[in-house]
Amino acid sequence: MAQPLVEVRNLTKRFGDFVAVDNISFDIQEGEILGLLGPNGAGKTTTIHMLLGLITPTAGSIRIFGLDLAEHRETILKQVNFSSTYISMPYSLTVEENLRVIARLYGLSNITQQIDDVVKKLDMQEIRGKLTRKLSSGQMSRLTLAKAIMTRPKVLLLDEPTASLDPDITQKIKAFLKEYRRSENLSILYTSHNMREMEEMSDRIIFLQRGSIVAEGTAQQIVERFGQRDLEEVFLKLAREERRI
Ligand SMILES: Nc1ncnc2c1ncn2[C@@H]1O[C@H](COP(=O)(O)OP(=O)(O)O)[C@@H](O)[C@H]1O
Ligand SMILES: [Mg+2]
Repeated sequence: MAQPLVEVRNLTKRFGDFVAVDNISFDIQEGEILGLLGPNGAGKTTTIHMLLGLITPTAGSIRIFGLDLAEHRETILKQVNFSSTYISMPYSLTVEENLRVIARLYGLSNITQQIDDVVKKLDMQEIRGKLTRKLSSGQMSRLTLAKAIMTRPKVLLLDEPTASLDPDITQKIKAFLKEYRRSENLSILYTSHNMREMEEMSDRIIFLQRGSIVAEGTAQQIVERFGQRDLEEVFLKLAREERRI
C-alpha cells in the first residue's frame, strides 16, 4: 500500500493532570474518508487541533505527507485545511471579502477566478455579496467549507461540518463532500456524533472514548465486534458505560 498521507503515532495530549487524548495511533490514506466518532469530550477536536499544529502534543508524533509536523509545519499546512461549525470569521466582511482574505493569507494567485470557482461549486452566488453577520447557519457552513477547499488542500479536517444544520442542507453538504473527495482524491478526517452520517460518509471509523481508541474498522466491523445492531447502539452502550464510571 502507498504511504499514508497522515501518520499519527502514540499521540497524547494532557491539560494539567487531565488526559484529553491518550496514546492514539492511526493513519489516513490518500483519498480516504476517516471518521472520528465519539461522545462529547472524547478528544476529537483536540486531535484535530494537534493535526493543525494549533496545540502541541504532550507526546507522540504526527507525520503528514511523510514529513514531521513539528519540523515542517509551514510546508505541510499549506496543503491541509479545516472547517468547523464553531469557527468564526469577521462578521463585518462580506462572503467574498472573507474569501479574499483567506486567498491572500495562503498566497493564492488568480484570486477572483478562484473565488468564482468555489462560489460556483458550493452554489453561493446569492450570498457572495452578503455580510457574513447576516448569513443563516446553512449559508455559514457553506462559507466555512468554501474557505477550506479554496486553498486546494490534499488533507481536509472537518470538525462536525453538519452540526446545527437542517437535514436538507446536511444532505447537500455530504453529497458535495463525497463528490469533491472523488474528483480531487482528497483525504478527509471527519468528526461527528451522528452515527448515520458516520456510516454514510466514512470508509473507516475510529471510535474515541475518553481520549482512547476503543474500536476501529468499517461501521460493519465495529457493530459486529460489539455485538450490537448498529453503530448507534454501540455508541449508546459505550456512552452509558462511561457515565457509570
Ligand atoms: N484547553 C483545554 N484545557 C483543559 N481541558 C481541555 C482543553 N481543551 C479540551 N479540554 C478537555 O479535553 C476533553 C476533550 O475535548 P474535545 O477534544 O473538545 O472533545 P470532543 O471534540 O470529542 O467533544 C474534554 O474533557 C475537554 O473539556
Ligand atoms: Mg469537538
